[in-house]
Amino acid sequence: MKAALQHTANLAQAYVEVRAYTETLAGPLSPEDCQLQSMPDASPVKWHLAHTSWFFETVILAGRAGYKPFDPHFAYLFNSYYEALGPRHPRPRRGHLSRPSLEEVYAYRAHVDAAILEVSSDEALHGLITLGLNHEQQHQELILTDIKHAFFSNPLLPAYRNGTNESHAPEPLDVISMAGGLTLVGHDGQGFAFDNEGPRHQSLLRPFRIASRPVSNAEYRAFIADGGYHRAEFWLSDGWARAQEEHWEAPLYWLKDDDGSESHFTLSGVQPLDPNAPVVHVSFYEAAAFAAWAGARLPTEFEWEAAVTSDASKHRLAHGQVWEWTRSAYDPYPGFKVFDGVAAEYNGKFMVGQMVLRGGSSATPPGHMRPTYRNFFPPHARWQFSGIRLAEDI
Ligand SMILES: [Fe+2]
Repeated sequence: MKAALQHTANLAQAYVEVRAYTETLAGPLSPEDCQLQSMPDASPVKWHLAHTSWFFETVILAGRAGYKPFDPHFAYLFNSYYEALGPRHPRPRRGHLSRPSLEEVYAYRAHVDAAILEVSSDEALHGLITLGLNHEQQHQELILTDIKHAFFSNPLLPAYRNGTNESHAPEPLDVISMAGGLTLVGHDGQGFAFDNEGPRHQSLLRPFRIASRPVSNAEYRAFIADGGYHRAEFWLSDGWARAQEEHWEAPLYWLKDDDGSESHFTLSGVQPLDPNAPVVHVSFYEAAAFAAWAGARLPTEFEWEAAVTSDASKHRLAHGQVWEWTRSAYDPYPGFKVFDGVAAEYNGKFMVGQMVLRGGSSATPPGHMRPTYRNFFPPHARWQFSGIRLAEDI
């Protein structure tokens, strides 16, 4: 799929595969499951199914001669945040939309698919179709993170899928030394990238060390056992306030059984906590507190990118199981320009008050990770598959 997304000759095939994968992810869910919205940040699966179709319809099909919208009301219901496209249904109330039904949303998808496949040979549209597919892949990950949160809010703690999670063998922690210096970072323009990944530019790095793998559950448990959640000296002020307010004692989804043993809620239901697996579902605030407790710090996004792309170090770093919080604010790169047209609102307007995460997670769809990819969330967010990697100055 990665190759297909990079080569426009296979774009129609990539379109079919990516759209089908979204429906595969929704496959195990009932119509009632697809209706759930457990918090304002998380959307119903039905909304994701419709909104990803709305994106193709709005960006590519709307206004084209011969295209008839499936339902003109959907422009209001399934616009996410595009001010230029007019008013929209409020995000916290997406779960109130019992109509259209799930069946109608699937018919909407089929309607849009037929229209896109009809125009997919038009090379002038390949850039926007590719953007639509990458957008759909972002929502594929959100389908999993959002249904996980929704199921966790049900006392029955239902499983999204059967089976147990594979256990991880202990992985020794290697510390990789990086010389630093003037380093090129950002996307080079070959193949698809979001606007926020460029332009490629120089970044001055001091010599640093970076861990070869993310922090494990066992390592994070030691932080908890040492009173990490009750010792203000490790915490940023905003983080300490949030941890107190929301009574954080462990990562989101960790459970303590009556006998004191620990488990956690996963997409396969409640599972024993694997000590060797990367810790996941921590906020930036928790990641920063852990790093302070460990006598280290989080890497900047530029240190992270340098380490995973340098020939000397890239084979020594394990990544891709959890998104990794960095110490970098989500800011525009020097010379940043937003996408043209409607997609101008895609990334740039969110560049305040959020932190960058790098890598990718077990929920990221195939072919969607890149060393230059900049994910971003507010520092208190915990429902994404977010973890921790440590770094330090030399
Ligand atoms: Fe979206």
